[in-house]
Amino acid sequence: MLPIAASTYAPRIDLLFWLMVGISGAIILLVVTLLVWFSFKYRRGTKAKRGALMTRFTREVEITWTVATFFTFIFLFWWGAAVLVATVPIPKHAMEIHVVAKQWMWKIEHPDGQREIDALHLPLGVPVKLVMTSQDVIHSFFVPAFRVKQDVLPGRYTELNFTPDKVGTFPLYCAEYCGTDHSRMTGGVVVMAPGAYARWSQGQPQGDSLAAQGKVLFTRLGCAGCHVNSETVHAPDLFGIYGKPQPMTGGGFRIADEGYLRDSIMLPRQDVVAGYAPIMPSYQGVASEEDVVKLIAYLKQPGGSTPR
Ligand code: CUA
Repeated sequence: MLPIAASTYAPRIDLLFWLMVGISGAIILLVVTLLVWFSFKYRRGTKAKRGALMTRFTREVEITWTVATFFTFIFLFWWGAAVLVATVPIPKHAMEIHVVAKQWMWKIEHPDGQREIDALHLPLGVPVKLVMTSQDVIHSFFVPAFRVKQDVLPGRYTELNFTPDKVGTFPLYCAEYCGTDHSRMTGGVVVMAPGAYARWSQGQPQGDSLAAQGKVLFTRLGCAGCHVNSETVHAPDLFGIYGKPQPMTGGGFRIADEGYLRDSIMLPRQDVVAGYAPIMPSYQGVASEEDVVKLIAYLKQPGGSTPR
């Protein structure tokens, strides 16, 4: 049987699954029935009619079954694609939570600064958007009860969104082989009624918000030195750039999304903003993936970073 379904998305996947099982089952049944029936009817020694092959209507029969099969598969493809595409648009008011995977644990960072390891507490019925990255190898975030699974890659941000619709604790697995303790890289997603969630959230050690921690890092790592205060170093102003297209040296634009901002910090030579010299040093090995998550949270907050 299927695992318990605990997200608004799950029933659509289940319907698709049972439809596939149904259609495959019907085809298997038809083929096996004909096989058994003909084996019996045409067994050695029976008087069943065995003439030349039928020649009338063979073309019509060929065309009919080819077209019928074709449309059945196109229909299944269309249905599957529609269910997949339905997960892409992320509701505007979705709660954004950061996930950093590493051998062999899941590190969760809530926007208000609560941190968890191998556990994710969520309120019931609120759309959630996970922004995930890995500190080392490829992992995969898999919650069977929500019917969602997404690879988590080093050097890139991947997203996953869903809305939990049942209270309970649901297992979280790593679904991509990632080394010795891959099978133990598990956790639990705890979905709570809104009141209970608020109590849980308040009971957590209240760190600063991600953006506030990012602001501190922005100064401590020396970003502010060139991007805000400098009279001598010519560096782009980062105020309010999040989500906006940035012109690149050599032509073209890149949207300043999470991936772009991460690349700019870790691989600054890859894409240089037009009009600036490629003088920014790489922060690979200096800033951790969690630091980068915080810096990005700071740069993308509504006020943006400190204006120059
Ligand atoms: Cu992480 Cu498998």
